[in-house]
Amino acid sequence: MRRVVCPGSFDPMTNGHLDIISRAAALYDEVVVAVLINITKKTLFTVDERIEMIEEVTKDYDNVRVDRFHGLTVDFCTEHGINAIVRGLRAVSDFEYEMQMAQMNYRLSSVETLFMSTNPQYSFLSSSLIKEVAKYGGDVGGLVPESIAGKLHSRLAEG
Ligand code: PNS
Repeated sequence: MRRVVCPGSFDPMTNGHLDIISRAAALYDEVVVAVLINITKKTLFTVDERIEMIEEVTKDYDNVRVDRFHGLTVDFCTEHGINAIVRGLRAVSDFEYEMQMAQMNYRLSSVETLFMSTNPQYSFLSSSLIKEVAKYGGDVGGLVPESIAGKLHSRLAEG
């Protein structure tokens, strides 16, 4: 079985993430969306909430499952019999950091990284920008799945 991982923070998942995951799902037998547990980073949504949101929006993809991990992505790969990571590249600015990670991951465990060019529709999107726009009442319609937009607004309204 050809299995690939899409690792990330997904705080929250955007339509850019979903686009990459759905395209990876068309190429691989199984796509594992792996949410990083990072206790040092302040997030808007808990890991459980992020997993639930991703499961909801990917429920129509039979070959996509959602998991969590802490530590190194390559260790998650080894534990789950995965030999490739898929990452979306939005712009040249992503390249340097992504290339470094890809080379380090290959050096650590011979895990390959496959870069997928982001749909130009979403090339300016990031979870951080989405949170900022939503926080100040901007319209995030079409940029995050509808169910996530609702949760984003409720969470931000809680203060
Ligand atoms: O959504 P993000 O924040 O861009 O995802 C970054 C992520 C989770 C893929 C990256 O930070 C990561 O792989 N973290 C786990 C620790 C690790 O393996 N670091 C890279 C070593 S080169």
